[in-house]
Amino acid sequence: MDRFFFISVLGLLIVAHRVAGNMACDSIAMLEELENFDVEEVDETELSKVPSWTSERGGKVLVNVDSYGAVGDGVSDDTQAFENAWNTACTTPKSVFLVPPGRHYLVNATRFKGPCAERLVIQIDGTIVAPDEPKNWDPNLPRLWLDFSKLNGVLFQGNGVIDGSGSKWWASSCKKNKSNPCRGAPTALTIDSSSAVKIEGLTIQNSQQMHFVISRSDSVRVSDVLVSAPEDSPNTDGIHITGSTNVVLQDCKIGTGDDCVSIVNDSSNIKMKRIFCGPGHGISIGSLGKDNSTSTVIKVVLDTAFLRETTNGLRIKTWQGGHGYVRGVRFENVAMENVVNPIIIDQFYCDSPKTCKNQTSAVEISEITYRNISGTTKSSKAMKFACSDTVPCNNIVLSNINLEKKDGTVATYCNSAKGFGYGVVHPSADCLSSHNKNYNAIGQSAITKESSVIGQTKISEFSETITEGIIHTEL
Ligand SMILES: *[C@@H]1O[C@H](CO)[C@@H](O)[C@H](O)[C@H]1NC(C)=O
Ligand SMILES: *[C@@H]1O[C@H](CO)[C@@H](O)[C@H](O)[C@H]1NC(C)=O
Ligand SMILES: *[C@@H]1O[C@H](CO)[C@@H](O)[C@H](O)[C@H]1NC(C)=O
Ligand SMILES: *[C@@H]1O[C@H](CO)[C@@H](O)[C@H](O)[C@H]1NC(C)=O
Ligand SMILES: *[C@@H]1O[C@H](CO)[C@@H](O)[C@H](O)[C@H]1NC(C)=O
Ligand SMILES: *[C@@H]1O[C@H](CO)[C@@H](O)[C@H](O)[C@H]1NC(C)=O
Repeated sequence: MDRFFFISVLGLLIVAHRVAGNMACDSIAMLEELENFDVEEVDETELSKVPSWTSERGGKVLVNVDSYGAVGDGVSDDTQAFENAWNTACTTPKSVFLVPPGRHYLVNATRFKGPCAERLVIQIDGTIVAPDEPKNWDPNLPRLWLDFSKLNGVLFQGNGVIDGSGSKWWASSCKKNKSNPCRGAPTALTIDSSSAVKIEGLTIQNSQQMHFVISRSDSVRVSDVLVSAPEDSPNTDGIHITGSTNVVLQDCKIGTGDDCVSIVNDSSNIKMKRIFCGPGHGISIGSLGKDNSTSTVIKVVLDTAFLRETTNGLRIKTWQGGHGYVRGVRFENVAMENVVNPIIIDQFYCDSPKTCKNQTSAVEISEITYRNISGTTKSSKAMKFACSDTVPCNNIVLSNINLEKKDGTVATYCNSAKGFGYGVVHPSADCLSSHNKNYNAIGQSAITKESSVIGQTKISEFSETITEGIIHTEL
């Protein structure tokens, strides 16, 4: 969809809503701003501080874990060797912390703390494996395996594998067997309280719980990362972003037993490009607002994704009773194959053995755009906008949506959700505006009267298409 066209439509909406008086100017501003929020291809200035291994091989100090006593037979405990190698690498400028190829290094839960000397490269070519027995896990680090914190300007790269050996953890999960206690398990790889970090080309697999968490960080770019775990492994989110800003995920292939990507509280400016997801629970914002907590997520863009055999596609999930908001999200150019809930906003999320009561407060959801989303759905409700009765979802914008069910009809479900569609929207999203049948008033008089808002020449060019679109979607 042409950007100018979108802005034109926004212009028309400004006009229409001035008439209807129910769309605030700052909403329009957010939609417009979102429109210009794109994923820049490589070499972003914000990450220019990140060292490159290939371009500056000279002058590098190689810190090979083997030189610090690592055995790499998958049986010997290499934790101490990794810690010692880290202490050298982190304090030496331009060093390369090297995990060489072809071996399996058994490493316990470890904190790799920064800040480090300038231009550190963490080159992982071999396999790092976790001890597989939950009973022997370090009780002081119950939720961590490989935890990197306070890094600034660091590059992680290589063809290596980070393997959480999670099968015993999964079996001991309360989601697998209700008689097990509900306990959190370690995250395989964590980047915490860091900035200007780049992660390229690694494989993270079979994590005990979440695979890769980016927390309390700024300017993190993840590319060509593969995340993989069985479809039935519990809570094994692929990439989880919390308390972070300016994060880019691109060219990642993620298939796990939970969300491929989950973006939660206090995160903003998150961009995802070319993401392959499946199996898994989809690309999610949330969950947010559990136990009456306050959460915000601002500005998230997903551009180009393929989701296959996932339980959800593009999802926003919040608990009843929460506070805060999700504002400014764009999902575009997404293809789906056999996805159960391709497009879903769920403000009644309840991942708890007890049922959750409806409450009056909820995390507010607004300025959510879906554009060029097509493919096949497993459920007949291809689009679900299940919003709180007291805190409705606002300004949901749909365009060029085409979701089909192999044998059967598809429909859109709305509860307390407001917005509009233009272009082809299938299944029709009439229910987003059914509270206001006057949307046809967007029509001709408004266009001519206020055409200066949008620009005289282009209006005539586009007005026909717009009118068609509006008729087609029966708004
Ligand atoms: C790693 O954990 C095991 C228990 O699983 C423990 O016996 C061992 O001492 C730990 N290694 C280090 C270096 O702390
Ligand atoms: C669930 O756990 C209980 C207690 O550990 C065990 O007796 C039971 O066999 C387990 N059930 C399954 C289906 O694994
Ligand atoms: C969300 O982040 C904000 C800002 O850091 C914090 O004040 C709040 O407690 C967080 N909420 C939750 C649920 O963690
Ligand atoms: C959340 O707030 C509701 C309404 O005030 C209250 O009934 C409920 O106990 C609270 N839940 C938690 C976990 O604090
Ligand atoms: C729509 O999305 C699909 C799937 O990602 C993509 O292949 C196609 O190029 C997009 N179309 C336009 C007009 O951008
Ligand atoms: C909560 O409200 C929604 C929307 O009105 C309704 O569909 C749902 O049944 C309610 N849930 C409970 C547990 O009352």
